[in-house]
Amino acid sequence: MNPCQPIPRAGEPCAIVIFGASGDLTKRKLIPSLYNLASYHLLPKNFSIIGVARSEMNDQEFQDRLGKDLTQLGTQPVDPNIWDGFRDRMLYCPGNFDDPKTYERLGQRLAESAKKLGTNGNVLFYLSVQPSFFATIAKMLAQYGLTKEEGNWRRVIIEKPFGHDLASALELNRNLTGALQEHQIYRIDHYLGKETAQNLLVFRLGNAVFEPIWNRRYIDHFQLTVAESIGVEGRGAFYESAGAFRDVMQNHMFMLLALIAMEPPNSLQGEVVRNEKVKLLQAVRRTSAEEALASTVRGQYGPGQVGGESVSGYRQEKNVNPESTVETYAAVKLMIDNWRWAGVPFYLRSGKRLAKRSTKIVVRFKVPPLGLFGENENEMIAPNRLIFNIQPDEGITFQVRAKVPGPTLATNAVHLDFDYSQFGERAPTTGYEKLLYDCMVGDSTLFHRSDMVEAAWEAAQPILDAWGNNPPKDFPNYAAGSWGPSAADELLERDVHKWWYPPE
Ligand code: BG6
Repeated sequence: MNPCQPIPRAGEPCAIVIFGASGDLTKRKLIPSLYNLASYHLLPKNFSIIGVARSEMNDQEFQDRLGKDLTQLGTQPVDPNIWDGFRDRMLYCPGNFDDPKTYERLGQRLAESAKKLGTNGNVLFYLSVQPSFFATIAKMLAQYGLTKEEGNWRRVIIEKPFGHDLASALELNRNLTGALQEHQIYRIDHYLGKETAQNLLVFRLGNAVFEPIWNRRYIDHFQLTVAESIGVEGRGAFYESAGAFRDVMQNHMFMLLALIAMEPPNSLQGEVVRNEKVKLLQAVRRTSAEEALASTVRGQYGPGQVGGESVSGYRQEKNVNPESTVETYAAVKLMIDNWRWAGVPFYLRSGKRLAKRSTKIVVRFKVPPLGLFGENENEMIAPNRLIFNIQPDEGITFQVRAKVPGPTLATNAVHLDFDYSQFGERAPTTGYEKLLYDCMVGDSTLFHRSDMVEAAWEAAQPILDAWGNNPPKDFPNYAAGSWGPSAADELLERDVHKWWYPPE
């Protein structure tokens, strides 16, 4: 079954301008996603793709190059019936991002696209560039009148990092909103394009059984895990300025947290959903330095074995300081000070070079009030867990207690499983299709608004400050291929909890 089948209409006619068109994201994700949308009949009939990059190329060379990449990197075989029409709509505009001539040329190409390809004056700009160019490009686009909406729309997609800390995030937002209106800015988060991330709200609010128990009375705690088995993959220089907390936790994980814990919105209108997410992020407790240090754990991997292979430690990676104190692992306990979640801990952990790739949200319910089926009166019987498997094996599992067959009364945990095979076969996707499509139809629900970004940084800043003022002394403190530093286990043990691990 086509993954986008339930969506009824194709996107609106538009030109899609990709800044950074010769980069990795364009060939790995953007062109394959747009091609997939075309194959699902969700790309408008009248579209164009205009690549902007420094390399000198003509349209033909641009088309040939990306056609070749699509054959290698696309998620489905290239069908000449789709590709021929697609290729003819790809244009190229060479130029530097800070050169006025680039924007003059782009203006001409956009006019040509509107006239010859019927794109109607709607333009989606995708800034697949270094974040240091976001503000410059937004300013130049505005200066050359390319973001002016006159009976049509002009939208700009940017991808994280949205700042390095609260101050730089505020500055970036100021620069962006100086050039664009907030409704034109689409801050993309590829995590929210993942199928099970989108299922979080559907599952919570589309099933009457869960919402009544989705609160502090029935839920003991949450665990959010984004574990990666890969290392920094040649991105040492970038990672040295980021670390696990900034790279994954403050953005992807905080936004998953918002989805799992926000109040039910009264409609699915983009602004309504985003209002609820902001409220939740604003309710994350801002900690003192002391509390921040006590409720967090940092780690950095040393050499070890991953998947049976020996791998080097973080400090031995290319472009990494041999004495680096950058964390490749972070675990935090967050509290949310609102009526629904008072007293319920949210444990988040993320790391590189861990034992397994596994992104999960585990909802741990409280135990029944009376241990009827335990071995003795004091024994706590196993609690129910609802597990959202975001990747790699997508699905949702409900762990319940059942009687083991036989003459004696013994119980064990069993799983009620949902996986997507129940919807039939799924075509593989890049994860960007839904997000690009949403931008084309003006649905901002899955994109971050400036106040969401700021609220997430506000919650993160006390932790970053406490860490900055107290450099770690024990790095490296976990072996590549393990589940992270032992201090992360102790963090939960103090609350008489344990991290939930995916079955071997
Ligand atoms: C990116 C981070 O945002 O997310 C990477 O910069 C990380 O470091 C990646 O590897 C994880 O994404 P996914 O979709 O592979 O889980």
